[in-house]
Amino acid sequence: MLYSVMRILCLLHFLLSLCLSKSLHVGAKLKEQMILLTFNQEVGVPEWNGSDPDYCSWKGVTCGHHSHVEKLTLSNQNLGGNVSSISRLKALKWLDLSNNNFHGVIPPAFESLSHLEFLDLSSNKFEDSIPLELGGLRSLKILNLSNNMLVGEIPKEFQGLESLQEFQVFNNHLSGLIPAWVRNWTNLRVFSAYENDFSGRIPGTLGFISELKILNLHSNHLEGPIPGSIFSSGKLQVLILSQNSLSGELPEEIGDCQTLYSVRIGNNNLVGNIPKSVGNITNLAYFEADNNNLYGELVSEFSLCSNLMFLNLASNGFTGTIPPEFGQLMNLQVLMLSRNRLFGYIPESILQCKNLKMLDLSNNRFNGTIPKEICSISKLQKLRLCHNSIRGVIPHEIGRCRKLVELQLSSNNLTGTIPSEIGYMYNLEITLNLSYNHLHGPLPQQLGRLIKLSSLDVSNNHLSGNIPSAFNRMSNLIDVNISNNQLSGPIPRFGPFLKSPVSSYLGNKGLCGELLNITCEDQHHYVELQEYQYSSGISYEDIVSILPLFLAALLVLTVVVFMIRKWKEVLANDAVVEGDETNTKPYIISGRVFVNELRQEVYLDAVVQATLNESNKLSSGTFGAVYKALMPSGILLLVRKLISMDMTIMHYQSKIAIELQWLHKLCHENVMKPIGYVICNDVTLLIYQYLPNGTLAQLLHESIMQSGYQTDWPARLSIAIGVAKGLAFLHHLVIIHLDISSSNILLDASFKPLIGGIEISKLLDPTIVTGSIIPHVGSFGYIPPEYAYTMQATAPGNVYSFGVILLEILTTRRPVSEDFGEGVDLVRWVHGAAARGETPGKILDAKLSSVSNGWKKQMLATLKVALQCTDHRPAKRPKMMNVVRMLREISNN
Ligand SMILES: *[C@@H]1O[C@H](CO)[C@@H](O)[C@H](O)[C@H]1NC(C)=O
Ligand SMILES: *[C@@H]1O[C@H](CO)[C@@H](O)[C@H](O)[C@H]1NC(C)=O
Ligand SMILES: *[C@@H]1O[C@H](CO)[C@@H](O)[C@H](O)[C@H]1NC(C)=O
Ligand SMILES: *[C@@H]1O[C@H](CO)[C@@H](O)[C@H](O)[C@H]1NC(C)=O
Ligand SMILES: *[C@@H]1O[C@H](CO)[C@@H](O)[C@H](O)[C@H]1NC(C)=O
Ligand SMILES: *[C@@H]1O[C@H](CO)[C@@H](O)[C@H](O)[C@H]1NC(C)=O
Ligand SMILES: *[C@@H]1O[C@H](CO)[C@@H](O)[C@H](O)[C@H]1NC(C)=O
Ligand SMILES: *[C@@H]1O[C@H](CO)[C@@H](O)[C@H](O)[C@H]1NC(C)=O
Ligand SMILES: *[C@@H]1O[C@H](CO)[C@@H](O)[C@H](O)[C@H]1NC(C)=O
Repeated sequence: MLYSVMRILCLLHFLLSLCLSKSLHVGAKLKEQMILLTFNQEVGVPEWNGSDPDYCSWKGVTCGHHSHVEKLTLSNQNLGGNVSSISRLKALKWLDLSNNNFHGVIPPAFESLSHLEFLDLSSNKFEDSIPLELGGLRSLKILNLSNNMLVGEIPKEFQGLESLQEFQVFNNHLSGLIPAWVRNWTNLRVFSAYENDFSGRIPGTLGFISELKILNLHSNHLEGPIPGSIFSSGKLQVLILSQNSLSGELPEEIGDCQTLYSVRIGNNNLVGNIPKSVGNITNLAYFEADNNNLYGELVSEFSLCSNLMFLNLASNGFTGTIPPEFGQLMNLQVLMLSRNRLFGYIPESILQCKNLKMLDLSNNRFNGTIPKEICSISKLQKLRLCHNSIRGVIPHEIGRCRKLVELQLSSNNLTGTIPSEIGYMYNLEITLNLSYNHLHGPLPQQLGRLIKLSSLDVSNNHLSGNIPSAFNRMSNLIDVNISNNQLSGPIPRFGPFLKSPVSSYLGNKGLCGELLNITCEDQHHYVELQEYQYSSGISYEDIVSILPLFLAALLVLTVVVFMIRKWKEVLANDAVVEGDETNTKPYIISGRVFVNELRQEVYLDAVVQATLNESNKLSSGTFGAVYKALMPSGILLLVRKLISMDMTIMHYQSKIAIELQWLHKLCHENVMKPIGYVICNDVTLLIYQYLPNGTLAQLLHESIMQSGYQTDWPARLSIAIGVAKGLAFLHHLVIIHLDISSSNILLDASFKPLIGGIEISKLLDPTIVTGSIIPHVGSFGYIPPEYAYTMQATAPGNVYSFGVILLEILTTRRPVSEDFGEGVDLVRWVHGAAARGETPGKILDAKLSSVSNGWKKQMLATLKVALQCTDHRPAKRPKMMNVVRMLREISNN
C-alpha cells in the first residue's frame, strides 16, 4: 500500500517536473519570440512572417538547443531602426547586420551577448565612438565594424578580446594610436584599419602576434619607422602601409619573412635602400614602394624572388643601371621604374622577362638605344620610355609588338624616320606619342591602319610631306597633334582632324585647310600625288607609264598568295587528320564542370576546339574574348578565354579551382557565374551557360538588335537597376570589378542583365583586402580619372564605370566617340552641357524622352544619379547600395 502510494507520488512528481521543465522551455521560446517580434516592430524585416509561430524558420534566423536563436543574418536588406533589443537574445553566437542603414551608436547593451563569436556591423551608418562595453565579449572571434562613421579611439577595454582572430575597422574616422596592447590578441590573423585617421607609430608589439597574416593600415597618418619586429612573427603574408608618413629605412628583417606575398609601402617618406635580404622572400609577388625617398642602386637580389609579378619603385631617387639579373624574373608582369635617376642601356636581359606586360622607364636618364629585340617580350602591352636621352632610330622590328596598346617615346633623342611597321601594331589603342624627338621624313601612310588608336602625337620633330589620306581610316582617333614639323598639304577633312584645336597644326610650313584659314589649291589630286611621290620617290607620270606592268605584277602576286594560303590550309588539315600535336595546339591540363546535371553534356575538348575558331567569337574585352561553343550533345555554352594573365593563372592553378568553385556558389541573379573551367597549357577557359541576347553594348549601339526593345525606357531602367544590384552585391562581398563596361553586361532570354568578368577580379586579386593594383584596369571610356595615378581598382571606381553605363543607357551614345569633340568623352560631354548652355533634356536620347512626360521625368532623375556616379572626386560618388535605392525610387514614381 505504502509502496503504491509512493509510486503514485513519484509519478506525480515526475509529471509535475516534466510539466515544469516543459513550461520553462515554452516560456523561453515565448520570450525569444517576443524579442524577435519587438525587434521586427522596430526594424521591419520584410521577409519575416510574424503570424508564423515557428520563428526558427524565419529567414536569417538559426536556432540551437531549445529553440534558442544562435544565428541572426540580416545583411543587405535596407534595414534601419533601433537594434538594441537583439542584446536580449542571450544565446546568440553569430550576428550579421552588415550592409543596411542602421545608424546611431552601436548599442552598448550588446555587451550581454556573452556567447557572441561573430559580429559584423560593417557598411552601415553607425556613428560616435565604439562602445567600450564590447570589450567584454570574451568569445568574440570576428569583429567587423568597417565602412561606418565611427570616431574616437580603439577602447582600451578591448584588451580583453583574447579570442579575436579578425579585426576589421577600415573606412571610418577612427583616430589615436594603434595600441601597443594589441599583442594581447594572440590569435589575431587579420588587422585591417585602413582609411581612418590613426596617427603615431606602428607598434612593434604587432610582431608578437604569431598568427598575423594580414596587416593593412594604408591611408592613415602613421609616422616613424616600419618596425622590424613585424617581420619576425613568421606568418605575415600581406603588408599594406601605403599613404602614410612613415620614415626611416625598410628594415633588414623583412627578409626573414618568407611568407610575405604582397608588400605595399608606397607614398610615404621612407629613405635608404631596399635591403638585399628581399631576395630571401621566396613568395613575394607584389612589391610597391613608389613615391618615397629611397635611393642607391636597384638591388639585384629582387631577381631571386622568382614569383615576383609586380615591381613598382617609381618616383624615388634610385641611380645606376637596371641590374641584368632582373632578366631572371620569369613571372614579372609589371616593372615601373619611372621618375628616378637611372641611366645606361635598357639591358638585353630584361627582354627575357617573357611575361612583362608593362615596362615604364620614363623620366630617367637612360641614354642607350631601343633594342631591336624589344618585341621578344611578346606580351608587352605598355612601353613607356619618354623623357630620357634615348638615341638612335626606332627599330623596324617594333612592328612585331602586336600586343602593344600604348607606346610613349616622346622627349628623347631619337633620329631617323618613323618606321612604317608601326602600322602593324594594330592593338595600339591608348596613345602613340613620338613627340619631341629628331625624327624626319614622311608620316607613313601605314599609320592609317591603327584604327583603334585614340591619341596620336608626333609634334616637335622634323617630319615633312603630306598627311596621308589613309589617316581617314583611324576612326577612333580623338586627339591629334602634328604641330612644329615641316608638314605640308591639306589637313584631312575628317572628324578628328577638323575637331582638333588649331594649335595641333601650327608651326608647319605648308599645311592648308579651313582650320588655318588657308585654302588649299587643287586639293584632290594634290593629296594622292604627293603621297605616291613620297612613298616611292617617283612622279605621277612615271606611275601612269608603269601602271600596266604594275597590274600584271599584282595579278601574279595575288595568285602566289592564294596558292600559299591553299597550301597552308592543306597542311593544316593534314595535321588535324593525323592528330599531330604541334607546339601551338593547346592541350588540357585540368578542367571541371561544377554542375552535376551538365557533366555528361559538356565536352571539355569541344570547348577548347570552339575557341580555336574565330567565327565563334562573340566579343572581346580587356581581359579576354568570349566565344560561343556548341557541344556535340546539342547544348550551347559561352566560353571566356583569358588572354593576358594566363601565366599568373598557371602559377596559381590550384587556387583557381577553389576560387572558381567559390564563384560558382555565388548566388545573385545579376551576376554571371562560371559552371566550369578548362586550364590548357597556354590559356584558361571559363565556361558559362549560354545567354541568347548578347551584350548591353550590342543592344544599345548595334541597331540590328531588336529595335522595339531598344527604345523602351522602362526596360532600360530595369536593366540599369539589375546591373546596380549585381554590383552592390559584389561590393558587399568586397569584390571589386576590374572591367565594368556595357560589353561585359550580358542579357538573358528575358533581357535580365548579368555582370560578367568577375572571376578576373577574383583570380587577379590574391590579396583580396584592397582592390588589385594592375596596370590596365578597365575598358577605354569607363576608366575613372583617379585610376591614372592610383593604379588601384576601387569600389568608387566601379561606381564611376557604372555611371558611364547609365549615361550610355540615357543617351544611346558610346562612351568614346569623335562626336564629342577633341579629347572629350561621354562623361565630359554630359558634364559640360550646362557650360555649353544646353538643357539636360538635350542630352537624353530623344527617341525615348519624347515618348511621354513620365519617361522623361524618370530619365532626368536617372541622369542626376549618373552625374553623381561620374563625379571626378571618388569620395563624392554614392555607394552602389544607395544607387540601387535611388534607381528603385525612380522606377516606382
Ligand atoms: C504567414 O504564415 C501563415 C501561417 O504559417 C500563412 O498562412 C501565411 O500565408 C504566411 N504569409 C506570408 C505572407 O507568407
Ligand atoms: C534604442 O532603444 C534603447 C532601449 O529600448 C534605448 O536605450 C536607446 O537609447 C535606443 N537607441 C537609439 C539610438 O535610439
Ligand atoms: C567583415 O569581416 C569579416 C571578417 O574579416 C568577414 O568574414 C566578413 O565577410 C566581413 N563583412 C563584409 C560585409 O564584408
Ligand atoms: C595584456 O597583456 C599584458 C602583458 O602583455 C598583461 O599585463 C595585461 O594584463 C593583459 N591585459 C588583459 C586585459 O588581458
Ligand atoms: C638572407 O639574405 C641575406 C642577404 O642577402 C643573406 O646573407 C642570408 O644568407 C639570407 N638568408 C637566408 C636564410 O637565405
Ligand atoms: C650614358 O650615361 C652615363 C652616365 O651619365 C655615361 O657614363 C655614359 O657615357 C652615357 N653614354 C652615352 C652613350 O652617352
Ligand atoms: C641629343 O644628342 C646630342 C648629340 O647627338 C646632344 O648634344 C644632346 O644633348 C642630346 N639631347 C638630349 C636631350 O640628350
Ligand atoms: C606626348 O608627350 C609629350 C612630352 O612627353 C607631352 O607633353 C604630350 O602631352 C604628350 N601627348 C599626349 C597626347 O599625351
Ligand atoms: C580663322 O578665321 C577665324 C574667323 O575669322 C578666326 O576666328 C580664327 O582665329 C582664324 N584662325 C587662324 C588660325 O588664323
